[in-house]
Amino acid sequence: MFEANVYVNRRRALLEKMAVQSAKGIVIFLGNADAPTNYRGNDYKFRQDSNFLYFWGVDEPWFAGVLDLDNGDECLYGNDVDIDDIIWMGPQPTVASKGNAIGCAKTLPLAEFDKAVTAAVSAGRPVHFLPPARYYNQMKLAQLTGIPNAIVRKVGPIAEGGASEELVKAVVALRLIKEECEIEEMDKAAEIGYWMHTEARRGCKPGVLEQEIVGRMEGVTYSKGWGPSFTTILSQNGETLHNHSHHQIITPGRLLVVDAGAESNTHYASDFTRTYPCSGKFTTKQREIYDIVEQANELAFSLTKPGTSYWDVHCATVRYMLEQLKALDFVRGDVDEMVACGISGLFMPHGLGHNMGMDVHDMEDLGENYVGYGDERQRSPLLGMGNLRMARNLKPGHVVTDEPGIYFIPALIEQWKREGTDKGFVNYEKLSGYYDFGGIRLEDDVLVTEEGSRRLGPYRLPIKSSDIEDIMSKE
Ligand code: GLY
Ligand code: MN
Repeated sequence: MFEANVYVNRRRALLEKMAVQSAKGIVIFLGNADAPTNYRGNDYKFRQDSNFLYFWGVDEPWFAGVLDLDNGDECLYGNDVDIDDIIWMGPQPTVASKGNAIGCAKTLPLAEFDKAVTAAVSAGRPVHFLPPARYYNQMKLAQLTGIPNAIVRKVGPIAEGGASEELVKAVVALRLIKEECEIEEMDKAAEIGYWMHTEARRGCKPGVLEQEIVGRMEGVTYSKGWGPSFTTILSQNGETLHNHSHHQIITPGRLLVVDAGAESNTHYASDFTRTYPCSGKFTTKQREIYDIVEQANELAFSLTKPGTSYWDVHCATVRYMLEQLKALDFVRGDVDEMVACGISGLFMPHGLGHNMGMDVHDMEDLGENYVGYGDERQRSPLLGMGNLRMARNLKPGHVVTDEPGIYFIPALIEQWKREGTDKGFVNYEKLSGYYDFGGIRLEDDVLVTEEGSRRLGPYRLPIKSSDIEDIMSKE
């Protein structure tokens, strides 16, 4: 948790951003409730709603907050513990003291939150809320506001009666630019991610079960922070972009994709990807592709600075990859035309990167276009480019991932061949020798600074193919 003035300033800044949009009424925030795994009382480890955490700081279930746009009043809602709670959970600080810690003088029991919202609804006052991530909060908002459940997550102008576009825009504008105290936390998350991935690389030995590596690397995140920042992706079938199956044995000759990150105790994320040769040495075929991805990662980093957009960085990066793939005869023809037709999507169906903060895909639930595009540009319909989650003009304080990849996805290749999607640019004969290749992705986390950018964390995971082979031979 940060100093009280951090939360005070954020709530004040939010009021100002809402005032600029002439928004009236109240803004409500629901913290997360406990979420049962298999029965009430056996819950998933608690994770607070990120927006609640950002403005209200309290990292416990069953809290809510209200900001009054018309008079600036604010109130934190939660219940003090009773003797039953004390028996099971021990004595807890009062809600008033929690309010004090975030600079909010007024606190009330949680039941008063329901009354405040229903009173505002009855009085015809606008009630601004964000699209909720959790189903419980979705139901709760529907019940309190009378808005149909199906509409509660639909973002639009407040007058349309769903989640508030005015509020989404204000929150995105604030959370996109990281404060110094947040950057410190992200550096910590990156350091934990470094040790997490170091454990994975050391575990990548022939004969080891993938699941065993996942267990060991996730253990690092629990011992140094809150835990993984998302479900670990670790697989020798790296051509499946988000592969969560870890049932295979590490086999010489294959590639292991490890895409994983850590969350700091204050809930800031890291997200790294490395790809390892399971035998400790790349084959020539693997190294050719690996070095293209590694250079693409480097190129993207060198271009990431204020004054450019991540859209342009994505385009320059896929252009470079297509030039290199052309040199290897995977594609034939004019590279600019290929970029324009989205041919890179066959090899890299995802975007170059996404925003990151308290959420690994920061604020994704508020709407990818509000977060990654704003009014600056329209999203592309092309495969790959269309999956770019961050396209904005870069500003100091943005944190983005730099994660180019090249994958050989047999089903996708076959579909393009069948449907002629490649417009004659793709050499399918060459590709036929890569159906068992898998995929390669290499990802770092990058902070945009006044001068340019820097990678987060005190150390960088080895990435050059020669460095990977060197370190794997010693571990
Ligand atoms: N690291 C997972 C993702 O970016 O989607
Ligand atoms: Mn990522």
